[in-house]
Amino acid sequence: MNAPARPSAPSTTARRAPQAIHEGFLAHRRYRWAWIAALLAGSSVLLYALDDPWPRPNGGTALGYALGTLSAGLIVWLSLLGIRKRRFTDGPWSLKAWVSAHVWLGLALAIIATLHAGFQFGWNVHTLAWALMMGVILSGVWGVVLYQRLPRQLSDNRATASERAMAAALAESDRALEAAARPLGDREAALVRDALATPAVGRSLGSRLAGRVPRCGTAAALRALPEGDPELAPLRDLLAARSVLLARIRTNARLKTWLQVWLLVHVPLTVALLAALLAHIVSVFFYW
Ligand code: HEM
Repeated sequence: MNAPARPSAPSTTARRAPQAIHEGFLAHRRYRWAWIAALLAGSSVLLYALDDPWPRPNGGTALGYALGTLSAGLIVWLSLLGIRKRRFTDGPWSLKAWVSAHVWLGLALAIIATLHAGFQFGWNVHTLAWALMMGVILSGVWGVVLYQRLPRQLSDNRATASERAMAAALAESDRALEAAARPLGDREAALVRDALATPAVGRSLGSRLAGRVPRCGTAAALRALPEGDPELAPLRDLLAARSVLLARIRTNARLKTWLQVWLLVHVPLTVALLAALLAHIVSVFFYW
């Protein structure tokens, strides 16, 4: 049977977190964290504009140290989301609140850390840390875009139930197609066999990301069977319904694969950033 990838066991998040974490996390509590982040970034810009250091703004002035300490603290705190995601509590510091704060404070960090550097860039470990930080932040924006596009059932704790329902519907479609093809000729039977033999989702990374399956047997059978033949109408209807179901399964698989790819960028970049941040701090305090 061409079932989609077997639904994995319900994740701990799915079992224990009744909330839909990724629904409306940007607007959480009337954009509370957007306001806090704007206040933080706005005051940093104001202090930077009022500051008049000699010979020019840089990380080593009083304000530079203050903004640098704030930036380093934010980076460490933002990195802790990886640990927080795997623990489960509700309340004012629910996971949704964390993700909301993570996103908005992460964006403010781009401004605060750039002011800390005083726009002094070069080919050194300090600029490497800044570039990695910007890379993590930009990849974060991409992650938010992906989460915004996820259909509701995929982004909250009903994802597993929805996948099970789709797998069951596909198995039902297999049985119905086999039964409908039995009384028909060899050509129709061969078309149905091809349709059933095509995997529900692509095997390669490229086809999963594209949400397409090359040479889909269901689409080919629909094209091959003439419309308007009353004897073939039930088979065509079943194939058309299967085609809609396959489109849903492939969209889900596509979005999930994109999220996996995204995590493979955001998290390793975070690890590299933490290493570069350490190198930056050590080199400033011990070798400057
Ligand atoms: C230096 C800044 C940042 C660091 C160090 C950082 C680090 C992390 C880490 C460690 C995770 C957890 C990944 C996991 O284990 O599943 C995460 C998740 C995430 N980050 Fe960031 N991040 C930063 C900035 C941003 C920004 C600016 C945004 C958005 C504009 C963002 C959006 C996200 C999203 C949407 C998630 C997924 C949350 C979830 O799955 O519930 N990040 N980040």
